[in-house]
Amino acid sequence: LKIAVLMGGPGSEREVSLASGKAVLQALVAAGLDAEGVDVMGADFVLPEGTGLAFNVIHGTFGEDGQLQSILEERGIPYTGAGSQSSAVAFDKNLAKAKFLAAKVPTPASEIIDVSGGVKMPQMALPYVVKAPCQGSSVGVHIVKDPSAAETAMEDAAKYGNEILVEQFVKGRELTVAVVDDVAMPVVEIVPPDGVYDMASKYPWLSGAKGSQYFCPAALDEATTQAVQDAALAAHRSLGVEVYSRVDVLLDDEGNPFVLEANTIPGMTETSLLPKSAAASGMDFTTLCIKIAELSLG
Ligand code: DAL
Ligand code: MG
Repeated sequence: LKIAVLMGGPGSEREVSLASGKAVLQALVAAGLDAEGVDVMGADFVLPEGTGLAFNVIHGTFGEDGQLQSILEERGIPYTGAGSQSSAVAFDKNLAKAKFLAAKVPTPASEIIDVSGGVKMPQMALPYVVKAPCQGSSVGVHIVKDPSAAETAMEDAAKYGNEILVEQFVKGRELTVAVVDDVAMPVVEIVPPDGVYDMASKYPWLSGAKGSQYFCPAALDEATTQAVQDAALAAHRSLGVEVYSRVDVLLDDEGNPFVLEANTIPGMTETSLLPKSAAASGMDFTTLCIKIAELSLG
């Protein structure tokens, strides 16, 4: 089976994707599989002759939002991960929010603001989080604690599209849960250097900034671990996501989980969160990549 590892992409997470793609490609090749990397910039990408599976590691716009999935479906090439429809829903935080609410998945209170006719201010009480709904890796995300910061935050988020998601800020711990084959894996806790898990503390190798600390399994009691995993699995299922995702969850000081989102093309460098969680359950990186490929082929 010839595997094309699709990486890069035209979006804001290109550099992260190239790192994920290289790691996956290396793992597959080291396992003796016939794999080749393809740097994808848009719809006209060329796959190696005889490609039997596209292993998609393109985060964000084009790769994670259903566009690439639709193209691969049209070309008749099987690909890893969620299908085109569930990808489109999961990647749009506003569409995903509606699915979470319908399925009673705990998620922060929110407001969707249409800025097509100009930037309007949220009605919600501070503090809140302003998000460009269709980005990843914290692009277009701002935590607003002070009223004087609201306008700049809204204006930045408005650069990415006509809708902005504003969520009530949840004070607490930052967690993430990998879901593979409809099973929630060990919970990862993220402790960023200055309390904010942003682009710099996510990818210190990109910026030279101080990285975050990660704990897996997170130090939570059994009941809380279960509640967090249940919320993550419910979120994954409510979006109809196939094969795998990584669900980001905040835990407030009373121990209540709040789901933020499910990432259908989560970071796949060897130090990324999904691989960490898999490792804590005894699955090494290569085995994880092969498992994703196998599950996707059905
Ligand atoms: N969007 C980044 C790659 C993640 O969720 O891991
Ligand atoms: Mg994301």
